[in-house]
Amino acid sequence: MNLFRMDDLSNDEIDEILRVAAQYKRGERKRSFEEKTGALLFYEPSTRTKMSFDMACHKLNIPILSFSEATSSAVKGESLYDTVKTMEAIGADFVVIRHPDDEYFTQLDGVNIPIINGGDGTGEHPTQCLLDLMTIKEQFNQFDGLTVTICGDVRHSRVARSNAYALKRLGANVRLSAPEDWRDHTLPFPYLSIDDAVKDSDVLMLLRVQTERHDRAVVLNDYLATYGLTVERAEQMRQKSMILHPAPVNRGVEIDSKLVESDKSFIFTQMENGVYIRQAVIELLLTQGGIHNETIN
Ligand code: CP
Repeated sequence: MNLFRMDDLSNDEIDEILRVAAQYKRGERKRSFEEKTGALLFYEPSTRTKMSFDMACHKLNIPILSFSEATSSAVKGESLYDTVKTMEAIGADFVVIRHPDDEYFTQLDGVNIPIINGGDGTGEHPTQCLLDLMTIKEQFNQFDGLTVTICGDVRHSRVARSNAYALKRLGANVRLSAPEDWRDHTLPFPYLSIDDAVKDSDVLMLLRVQTERHDRAVVLNDYLATYGLTVERAEQMRQKSMILHPAPVNRGVEIDSKLVESDKSFIFTQMENGVYIRQAVIELLLTQGGIHNETIN
C-alpha cells in the first residue's frame, strides 16, 4: 500500500489514522519496528516534514537511511525510479519522497516497497492534510458542518488541494480566498475576500506564498494589508475559530507576526501533531492489513 493522495484513504482509514495518532499523542500506544528500515528521499527543501518523519521513525525504533540529493548519484543523472529501486535493493522497507514534479509517483510502477508522498510539486501533501485534520478535530471533535476557508497562494499549493477535497468529503463547507492571479478555477469551491472569510470561518487555513513556484517575481509589500491576516481582521474571527498555516510562515506577509503565537493560532500544534500522524501512517503502511487496534505498552 502507498500513500500518494488523500483519495488513497477512505473516510474510515482517515478516522483510524487520526485515532491511532491521538493514542500516540496521549502516550497510550507504543509500537516498535526495529527490524524495519526507512529512507527519506527529499528532492526539495524541508524542515517539518523531513524532521517529523525522522522523529516518528525514532519513536518507532526504525533506523533511517540518510539521503542528500546533492551528494547522491542523482547529480550524475540517476533517475528517481533507479534511486528508489536502489533503496529497495539495499533493504529499505519504505520510502518517503518529496519531489518537485507533480505526480512523480507515476514514474514508480515497479517499486515493491510502500511509498509515502511527502509532497509532489503543486499536487498533494497527504500527511500535512492528516495533521491538519488532527488539529481541527482536537478543537471541534468533528468536520461535519465546519466552515473552512483556505487563504492565499491556492494555485501553487499542494496543501490546499489535499485539504480542500478531504475536508469536503468529511462534510466541511470549504471556501477559498486568493488574489485573482493565484486562484485555481479547476477547484470546485467558491472564492471570497479575506474580510468576509474572517467573519464566519471556523478554520482559517493560511497558505505560504510560494515564490519558488511563481513564473515571475512578485511584490509582497501590500500582501498582508490586502490578502493576509492582520491583527484587525483577526479581531473579527469567531470566538472558537482557529488559525492554521502549514509553515514555513512568511511572518508579516500571510499573517501578522504577532498572531503566529496568539491564542487562536495552532501552527505549532500542527507541527507537533505531524509526528504522531507520521507514526500512525508508517504503522498502517508497515502492517499492510490496516492499523491494528491493540495497544502495546
Ligand atoms: N509544512 C511543510 O511541509 O513544511 P516543510 O516544507 O518544512 O516540510
